[in-house]
Amino acid sequence: MKEITDLSIDEAKVELEYLAHEIAKADSAYYQNDDPYLTDSEYDRLKHRNTDIEARFPTLIRPDSPSKRVGAAVKNGFAKVVHTFPMLSLGDVFSIDEVADFVMGVKRFLNTADDIAFMSEPKIDGLSFSARYENGIFVKGATRGDGATGEDITENLKTIRQLPLKLPTGVPEVLEVRGEVYMSKADFFALNEKSAAEGKKTFANPRNAAAGSLRQLDPKITAERNLSIFAYTWGEVSARCWNSQADFFNHLRDWGFPINPNNTLCTNLKEIEQSFNRLMEIRAELPYDIDGVVYKVNSITLQERLGFLTRTPRWAIAHKFPAEQALTRIDDIRIQVGRTGALTPVADLEPVNVGGVMVSHATLHNEDEIKRKDIRIGDTVIIQRAGDVIPQIVGVRLDKRPVDAAEFIFPATCPVCGAHAIREEDEAVRRCTGGLSCPAQAKERLIHFVSRDAFDIAGLGDKIIESFYAEGILRNPADIFTLENRNSGDDLFSAAQGLHLERREGWGKKSVDNLFQAINAKRTISLPRFIYALGIRQVGTATARLLAKNYSRFTDFMQDMINKETGKLVSIDGIGVSMATDMVEFFQEPHNINIIKALLEQITVEDFVDSSRTDSPLSGKTIVFTGTLERLTRSEAKAKALSAGAKVAGSVSKNTDYVVIGTDAGSKAAKARELGIKTLNEDEFLNLLQ
Ligand code: IVH
Repeated sequence: MKEITDLSIDEAKVELEYLAHEIAKADSAYYQNDDPYLTDSEYDRLKHRNTDIEARFPTLIRPDSPSKRVGAAVKNGFAKVVHTFPMLSLGDVFSIDEVADFVMGVKRFLNTADDIAFMSEPKIDGLSFSARYENGIFVKGATRGDGATGEDITENLKTIRQLPLKLPTGVPEVLEVRGEVYMSKADFFALNEKSAAEGKKTFANPRNAAAGSLRQLDPKITAERNLSIFAYTWGEVSARCWNSQADFFNHLRDWGFPINPNNTLCTNLKEIEQSFNRLMEIRAELPYDIDGVVYKVNSITLQERLGFLTRTPRWAIAHKFPAEQALTRIDDIRIQVGRTGALTPVADLEPVNVGGVMVSHATLHNEDEIKRKDIRIGDTVIIQRAGDVIPQIVGVRLDKRPVDAAEFIFPATCPVCGAHAIREEDEAVRRCTGGLSCPAQAKERLIHFVSRDAFDIAGLGDKIIESFYAEGILRNPADIFTLENRNSGDDLFSAAQGLHLERREGWGKKSVDNLFQAINAKRTISLPRFIYALGIRQVGTATARLLAKNYSRFTDFMQDMINKETGKLVSIDGIGVSMATDMVEFFQEPHNINIIKALLEQITVEDFVDSSRTDSPLSGKTIVFTGTLERLTRSEAKAKALSAGAKVAGSVSKNTDYVVIGTDAGSKAAKARELGIKTLNEDEFLNLLQ
């Protein structure tokens, strides 16, 4: 089965039709005839596939889509809502320099030196909502969820008095207004006071209180809490009647939505900075929490040209306020051993509240960092938390250092397996040399293998892996797929005993069956997921995708790596020598090869068919750009090539299909001619994109 991201629009359409048909057939077998022929997991797989394809191709959602029946099926919890337009998040920056870089990047992308107007908006610290209106009537409310699918909170949103339920005539037929639900500081304190008096649980901060109040299965409870909203963006709209963010705010105001009074249109970086400083100043006096400022390119035409990265728009960014800080004491320093053997020191702290969150651990990164900051056990330190990042130790309060504060001696052996821990030249980290014989590494690799972006086996949580590892039930990834066979393997003659997981405390037949189902559902896996799951150092999801795209078949990739053949590898734009070295090293390790072989006997790795747009003549082709283009910036050109299904490489080789030559092109153009590779000028390239 193809990855959703690789489906062309035509393929998606055909598959959605097929899925609607199959699911309807299965439904009728189950509900009408009491004679199901699909297992629950097979059925779920079809349903998920359907929602996932719809999330990527919202325009293809069929009137008879199975996702529309979700509402009735869900008994516990909220029904799911597929966002016809995904609810995105924003990239974060923490300094005005980074904002300047962002603005520069926007200008470069658009190839202009002129100032660009940005809307500056307080970043409300609540949770986002989407409110759908059809013919001016509020019909559906949803949370953001994972951005593609949220929860149906229609009834809960209706209880918020600021949300208009009926819009004036003349609004677009379909209109999704999005914004933030929040609780004011005053309402938060009042709620906590009341809860405390009644002996009920209190909330750590207004954001949690808002989330806890909105996501109530009983909307009566939501109604009792005072929730507020600000509207700031849109989702699906049948006919957009605004051409800038400022214009949109005017409409929102006319339609009766609360909009933030501090939204300001800025015409240059200086004004952006002023708006930020002003909001910092008034932050404490505002009746609600804000955690930064959002800047959005004002013109919708420019927004459309800029487009999106994977999960965030290129035309907006969140400028977060500086981190919140607190003082606390270091009780101890421990060493954690990660998947790649890295020894990471972690400080155990006297628990402390940092900006609304209790913090009891902080990473110390590596031994140099401890030395540089001269951090000792017993020290009082300044902890900070910025945005969602893990807490950091900013520095030590030497004036509070106890006389007996002990310096931390970094171990030269792995605290888990006792193997030597060595630090290679130009590496900041010390690594355990135990490899997979080190229980910590083996365990972390298993955890990585089943994690969400890898095999995504939800039934195998960290705790289970830990105990299965300790008991020898799971020692490497291949063991996962033999678990079911080993479970019931009683043999009267040889006295071999099955594992009988169902006899474990807290387990039963049902939970064991569910686990096997979850595992069996992953016996076919896409190439990018498989590569990522191997846990090769430096190979994250993006790199795994790049590799899949360029090699198409796992065996081809593996053969090259085993033969230390890195020519093709390093010609890929985005893969450097250090990464290539790590990949080759991984495949020189016999243990890794053995595990991969054992795995391939159990599972199928799908070939990667790159068909983001098979109808494009550039699809599957490798392109190299050189020289300056006139009508497109380099980033725009690359983005266009990628979305036409091409691969973009950094250097010319015999694998290159086209070299696009701008003015002042250098050696790459010469190399292309030398190798007889087809060259294109900018116009020819644009024509091929059409
Ligand atoms: S715009 C594509 N505007 O911040 C644009 N978001 O990190 C999507 N937020 O999920 C969001 N105030 O919950 C936008 N004025 C504002 C915002 C805002 C708060 C939240 C929102 C979003 C998150 C993104």
